[in-house]
Amino acid sequence: MIKYLGSKRRLVGEIGDLLTATDAATAVDLFTGTTRVAQEFCRRGAQVTAVDVAAYSEVLAQCYVETDVASIEPAEVAEALRRLSQLPDRRGYVTEVFAEQARYFHPDNARRIDAIRDGIDAWYPDGPLRPILLTSLLEAADAVDSTVGLQMAFLKEWAPRALRPLRLRPPVLVPGSGRALRCDALEAVRTMGPVDLAYLDPPYNQHRYYTNYHVWETLVRWDAPAHYGVACKREDARDPATKSAFNYRSRMPQALAEVITQVRATTVVVSFSNEGFLPLAEVLELCEARGHPVRVLAHDTRRYIGSAIGVYSPGGVKVGTQGPSRNVEYLLVSAPEEVQERLPRFASQISC
Ligand SMILES: C[S@@+](CC[C@H](N)C(=O)[O-])C[C@H]1O[C@@H](n2cnc3c(N)ncnc32)[C@H](O)[C@@H]1O
Repeated sequence: MIKYLGSKRRLVGEIGDLLTATDAATAVDLFTGTTRVAQEFCRRGAQVTAVDVAAYSEVLAQCYVETDVASIEPAEVAEALRRLSQLPDRRGYVTEVFAEQARYFHPDNARRIDAIRDGIDAWYPDGPLRPILLTSLLEAADAVDSTVGLQMAFLKEWAPRALRPLRLRPPVLVPGSGRALRCDALEAVRTMGPVDLAYLDPPYNQHRYYTNYHVWETLVRWDAPAHYGVACKREDARDPATKSAFNYRSRMPQALAEVITQVRATTVVVSFSNEGFLPLAEVLELCEARGHPVRVLAHDTRRYIGSAIGVYSPGGVKVGTQGPSRNVEYLLVSAPEEVQERLPRFASQISC
């Protein structure tokens, strides 16, 4: 699984328990990111739709949510990865931009990435193996990157993992064949059919996933975009069409209210953090507008490593202050009384 800001690694078990306790057979993960939560829903037997605006997230969802593990022959994946791993090095966009101009990857690994990414287009332009191979490449590249988990900057000295050779591994697929949907959550809730449970994990603040993970976006789109700045971000990041309403303090409350009230689901679970644009009381109010009781679960968690290190310019000069090392992650569970009654009392439950 790739390193991802806001990924619900620690909460995924509890979110899965909510799906099980509510007997949900169908679910939507509306801001799916790494698809970690959607995968958990699949493992627990639900029919899942995974939604996100990012191209890399769509590929991850095609691999982990749309592809049923039973439909894939592991030997075929192993053979495809072996063929791709044997391709000769190539100096392409990743090498020139992400290893020579920026330093996200060691040039030795960047040449492997260029060769393998071209190989996927040449040999697997479509078909069921394609998202699996792209996911394998994304995860392999993530395992040798030289960042603190965000692609707004890279480390001054190579991270030790960046010096290890890139290795393709087969993604660990899960059962069930759900659906990957690349679209705005606001659009998805207007067009999707009803589900038993909807999980909402929107961006909490101004930090944009489109720029934080622009390298993955380019690796999947493979469109060699014009770029700007030291971080070599995609030129189209300046285009308003790539900006999410959830990243604006002024637009986010309305957007979140719309998604919460319009999603057709019996149970709605909203993830939120004490560092978001809105205080807990206001998110609670948005959930209560559905007309059902709301439970609140709270988790004190460690923030991503960049916050502990602080922010440095590419020249190694400290330009930002160190943030708090911990934050509180909330899960707000809105469901009709009869569904709430089926839920166990979670240790993390708080009263508001
Ligand atoms: C907090 S992250 C989700 C993390 C995810 N739950 C996980 O465990 O990996 C928020 C996600 O929302 C996506 N996103 C941002 N704006 C969106 C929008 N308007 N519609 C759908 N997805 C959006 C981002 O691309 C990002 O993947």
